[in-house]
Amino acid sequence: MDRLLADAATRPLCREDLIALLSLTAPQDVARLRRAAFDLATRTVGDGVYYRGIVEFSNECARNCHYCGIRAGNREVERYCLSHEEVVDCALWAAAMGYGSCVLQSGEKWDDAFVGFVEDCVREIKERSRGPELPDGLGITLSVGEHAPAVYRRFRAAGAHRYLLRIETSNPELFARLHPAAQRFEDRVACLSSLREAGFQVGTGVMIGIPGQTVGDLADDILFFRGQDVDMIGMGPYIVHDQSPMRGLGMMPHDELLSLALNMIAVTRLALPDVNIAATTALQALAPDGREQGIACGANVIMPNLTPQDARRNYQLYEGKPCLDEGREACRVCLQHRVETAGRTVVRNAWGDSRHFARRRPPLD
Ligand code: 5AD
Ligand code: FES
Repeated sequence: MDRLLADAATRPLCREDLIALLSLTAPQDVARLRRAAFDLATRTVGDGVYYRGIVEFSNECARNCHYCGIRAGNREVERYCLSHEEVVDCALWAAAMGYGSCVLQSGEKWDDAFVGFVEDCVREIKERSRGPELPDGLGITLSVGEHAPAVYRRFRAAGAHRYLLRIETSNPELFARLHPAAQRFEDRVACLSSLREAGFQVGTGVMIGIPGQTVGDLADDILFFRGQDVDMIGMGPYIVHDQSPMRGLGMMPHDELLSLALNMIAVTRLALPDVNIAATTALQALAPDGREQGIACGANVIMPNLTPQDARRNYQLYEGKPCLDEGREACRVCLQHRVETAGRTVVRNAWGDSRHFARRRPPLD
């Protein structure tokens, strides 16, 4: 165990090492793993945590992922799409609060009106958020699913510079069990490449604790992140949704699942020292301090929810999503406290780009 943690600093961890670390359960071992990841993060990405205020601007979705609460087939969800003004207002509020970056996330749609809507929002947010504190405007991340390369180029040209597209699992067979046949693993991987080609900082991630997933799969996920040379990682526990076809398959017990998800964050930090890793909201569905624990395992990004309160209840991807009854101001105050409890400080008015990206690509003029 100590040898493995020491080795992590000097050589790339192999699959067996990753499995051994992911499988740790003895409290002392787990504490040492988490500490090693936290300390490594301090050295590689610093002791700050960066905010990405997230606007879940629409739950309309053409996809039918078997695990997801807002899948097209779920007729019990009331569908919404925020107006252009509402989206821009949320983002400008984030800028005024010193968040530095925002994420626009939604269900997946491909029509021209949708693409144009996203483009227009990005353009206006960019323009109107420039100021003395943010000379280049808010950093904008998009998380709106699979699109053609030309669409990604349009989003990039409008001013978004980061994109999140989770692979969900790097095991193609498990991927096939989680999605209808129309959704192909290869297409998702190809999108990650076209996002890079379009000039985005690319983020991906997986769900942890999916029925049928093994620790070997999770080790392979980490090797996948490394192989794809990604800049950002967002991953969280799989949590069953009552109105999904996977309902009958259940989920891992909460405490075991949280421990596994935290191990996954810590081991990913050891394996990819300079990427940005998010302490995702789903961690907080398992324990009130789930996100703080994520930070204590080496995560350095957190995503305060900016979605207007009446829309939040219709963007439940999984059961028990936190913050449904809180507004953006409550989340702001609450999260600042959570980050400080975890021994980090919130960095204000900064994009907090992935250090990995700066290394893999020369900075733009
Ligand atoms: N449990 C956990 N995460 C989920 N997501 C969707 N449904 C669930 C669920 N039931 C995650 C997926 C998706 C992200 C936006 O939300 O990983 O990429
Ligand atoms: Fe929303 Fe704490 S982060 S209430």
